[in-house]
Amino acid sequence: MTTTNKPMIITCLLMLIHLTFSDGADTDVACLKAFKTSIQDPKNYLSSWDFNTNTTGYICRFIGIQCWHPDENRVLNINLSDLGLVGMLPVGLAKCTSLTGLDLSGNRLFGHLPSNISKMLPFLTNLDLSSNNFSGQIPRDLANCSFLNILKLDNNRFSGRIPVELGRLSRLKEFNVANNSLYGQVPVFKSVNVSAESYAGNPGLCGGPLPRCR
Ligand SMILES: *[C@@H]1O[C@H](CO)[C@@H](O)[C@H](O)[C@H]1NC(C)=O
Ligand SMILES: *[C@@H]1O[C@H](CO)[C@@H](O)[C@H](O)[C@H]1NC(C)=O
Ligand SMILES: *[C@@H]1O[C@H](CO)[C@@H](O)[C@H](O)[C@H]1NC(C)=O
Ligand SMILES: *[C@@H]1O[C@H](CO)[C@@H](O)[C@H](O)[C@H]1NC(C)=O
Ligand SMILES: *[C@@H]1O[C@H](CO)[C@@H](O)[C@H](O)[C@H]1NC(C)=O
Ligand SMILES: *[C@@H]1O[C@H](CO)[C@@H](O)[C@H](O)[C@H]1NC(C)=O
Ligand SMILES: *[C@@H]1O[C@H](CO)[C@@H](O)[C@H](O)[C@H]1NC(C)=O
Repeated sequence: MTTTNKPMIITCLLMLIHLTFSDGADTDVACLKAFKTSIQDPKNYLSSWDFNTNTTGYICRFIGIQCWHPDENRVLNINLSDLGLVGMLPVGLAKCTSLTGLDLSGNRLFGHLPSNISKMLPFLTNLDLSSNNFSGQIPRDLANCSFLNILKLDNNRFSGRIPVELGRLSRLKEFNVANNSLYGQVPVFKSVNVSAESYAGNPGLCGGPLPRCR
């Protein structure tokens, strides 16, 4: 490499960084717009999400939103628990490409979780969907959200077996599926001892801290 090429390489790098950043920001704004559009909000908590402002990092001041940096529209955590929100898990959340925490507990959300949830939310460390009305099976693909520390799905209407693959989640510290309609053998977890209370209120779970499966 000759020295004359250096400025050009640096320029390219700067352009790349700039593109990456503005891209992230634009998609994160689109993410929150999609979220607001696809969710019913009977108590109007999200009416304060005003997309007609344009100061840097404006979405970081929205209720329930925490950014990686206060002056950059890149969402770190979404925490909208107990707001009476109604609807399905918005697929537009995939556009929050750097999201690590999602707490939508205590709302009135329903429907199945997407079977490609790890493609939508690959960097999640904390997923709390407890106390909603989600149903269907717990997606096997959650096992591919490999950064998960906390997974709370209790007090919903999930049914079927708990995917054994979840046992592979090597960073898991908290797992709760109490009060659903789950049955069968519970997974063997590598990184956490799940208590019987975290399985309570399901008709047919067995194994682990529960009575042996027959
Ligand atoms: C925000 O600023 C961008 C460019 O910085 C511009 O393209 C866009 O139209 C502006 N949006 C609003 C709502 O003012
Ligand atoms: C969301 O907010 C609640 C109440 O303030 C808090 O207990 C919970 O830890 C928060 N969740 C996240 C992911 O920050
Ligand atoms: C869940 O759905 C049932 C039946 O559709 C309804 O009665 C109940 O209020 C819902 N619960 C929540 C938390 O939305
Ligand atoms: C997940 O699957 C749905 C439908 O199967 C698809 O529309 C969506 O693009 C997928 N999302 C990602 C992030 O791959
Ligand atoms: C995890 O992702 C890989 C690659 O996309 C896929 O082959 C595998 O089926 C996924 N695992 C689960 C448990 O869904
Ligand atoms: C399960 O539901 C019952 C009745 O609604 C409630 O009293 C109990 O606290 C719930 N258990 C857990 C672990 O969430
Ligand atoms: C789980 O409990 C066993 C027995 O009490 C203990 O030896 C083990 O270290 C615990 N594992 C974790 C990950 O806490």
